[in-house]
Amino acid sequence: MDNINELKIPRHIAIILDGNGRWAKKRFLPRAMGHKAGCETLEKTVEDCARLGVEYLTVYGFSTENWKRSEEEVSALMQLFRFYMKKLVGVANENNVKVKMIGDKSRFSQDIIEGIDFLVESTKNNTGMVFIFAVNYGSRDEIRRAVAKIVENKEITANDITEELIASYLDTNGIPDPDLLIRTSGEFRISNYLLWQIAYSEVYITDTLWPDFDKAELLKAIESYNKRERRFGGR
Ligand code: FPP
Repeated sequence: MDNINELKIPRHIAIILDGNGRWAKKRFLPRAMGHKAGCETLEKTVEDCARLGVEYLTVYGFSTENWKRSEEEVSALMQLFRFYMKKLVGVANENNVKVKMIGDKSRFSQDIIEGIDFLVESTKNNTGMVFIFAVNYGSRDEIRRAVAKIVENKEITANDITEELIASYLDTNGIPDPDLLIRTSGEFRISNYLLWQIAYSEVYITDTLWPDFDKAELLKAIESYNKRERRFGGR
């Protein structure tokens, strides 16, 4: 491995975490145990990224499509969400991490909405890494909500529609686009994640299942990113 100190750390890393179910299946455990292990990996990854000097980390925690899973699995995920959101307050504050949420939280139960608000509020003065948690997030839904807000603003005319204006109506307003997108468990799909924002992101896919993802894996992804030549469409 290259010397860590010589690695250029991506400013913004986005992650699609995948493979919790397969991880549990391999161990003859219920799927919920895979999600629990996944939450622990998430906690460690937030810490690892903050310590490496990543400025923004965006993680896909729950998609607008995940509601289609069995009632039992959705309810286990909600329980985990309740528990880990509280734990995350401590992890974020210990690591000077500011937490933001993207997605449409209105579909969650009232106590979860309050938990989200508390997590965001109690970390808002932290000045280190920004951890963006995408929950009940879907990129097409985000774009749909942005377009609805633009149309509602009667002062905006067709000439005002620039890329910057559209970006400013997305949930990620003010956050630079991801430099590196990591997907675990070997799937070559974007799954309705940050479609607008990843236009020029480098993509890294690993076969490692999310609960097994660790700092060594993170460094491998960053090393691979360091070998890419980013041209943003130029030559
Ligand atoms: C992907 O594995 C995981 C999810 C779709 C949701 C789980 C998210 C977390 C554990 C992060 C914390 C967030 C919450 C809301 C608790 P999969 O179930 O798709 O795995 P598989 O493809 O192997 O079945």
